[in-house]
Amino acid sequence: MRARTALVPAVGVVLGSGLGGLADELSDGVAVPFAELPGWPAAGAPGHAGRLLLGHLDQVPVVMLQGRLHLYEGHDPGLVVQPALLMGRLGARTIVLTNAAGGVNPAFGPGTLMVIADHLNLTGRSPLLGANADKIGPRFPDLTAVWAPDLRRALHEAGQAEGVELAEGVYAGLLGPSYETPAEVRMLRTLGADAVGMSTVLEAIAARWAGLAVCGVSLITNAGAGYTGKPLSHEEVLASGAEAGPRLGHVIRRFVRDRT
Ligand code: HPA
Repeated sequence: MRARTALVPAVGVVLGSGLGGLADELSDGVAVPFAELPGWPAAGAPGHAGRLLLGHLDQVPVVMLQGRLHLYEGHDPGLVVQPALLMGRLGARTIVLTNAAGGVNPAFGPGTLMVIADHLNLTGRSPLLGANADKIGPRFPDLTAVWAPDLRRALHEAGQAEGVELAEGVYAGLLGPSYETPAEVRMLRTLGADAVGMSTVLEAIAARWAGLAVCGVSLITNAGAGYTGKPLSHEEVLASGAEAGPRLGHVIRRFVRDRT
């Protein structure tokens, strides 16, 4: 990336399924397909462009990930978190993780935007397995406040300023790639989850470990399995992302502008 541009980003934004549109708002940016970065595979999930972009969003230097790497593609946890860590290496001190998710809280219907208050890592994996890179972060990182309270507050303020309603709740990250069974969704509710998806938690752990300030928003694209009796589909997820994505884009844009 340094061979392409000297730009030092203040903020990193990971754009999840169907949320890639914000990358089109970048000015004087460079866009690099994942596969052109050493050791990175091409993005595999449908709806994920798979590009790293550096540019300006309303004058603020940012780095964006259009699409991401998932465990369910068969990638190691350590690879899944490389984009988040690279954002930090490039200079970003704040990272915003977005995703598409199913609603586990029955009050969170399709189109709900949920600021992530905390997470459940139910993937059974950790990006920090193996020898610890002490130069980057501690062996046993504290996760009491992965989702930075001040940034959560800033997201809500950005939502208010943009007239976009934001809920808040707990995101459960699962391995996937199958959607959940209705019994699993009931279990997740019992465990305290408000939303469920197949990403984000490993990136959050790694970014926090590396000392970045982390926040995020889930776009609820569908009611969790079993709530409506209708089958879940990736098409529904992408369609809902297309509808609500621009609303989330406004919030993130305002949030980024307020960082300066
Ligand atoms: N479950 C898991 N991941 C998802 C869902 C879901 O219902 N919707 C979008 N991503």
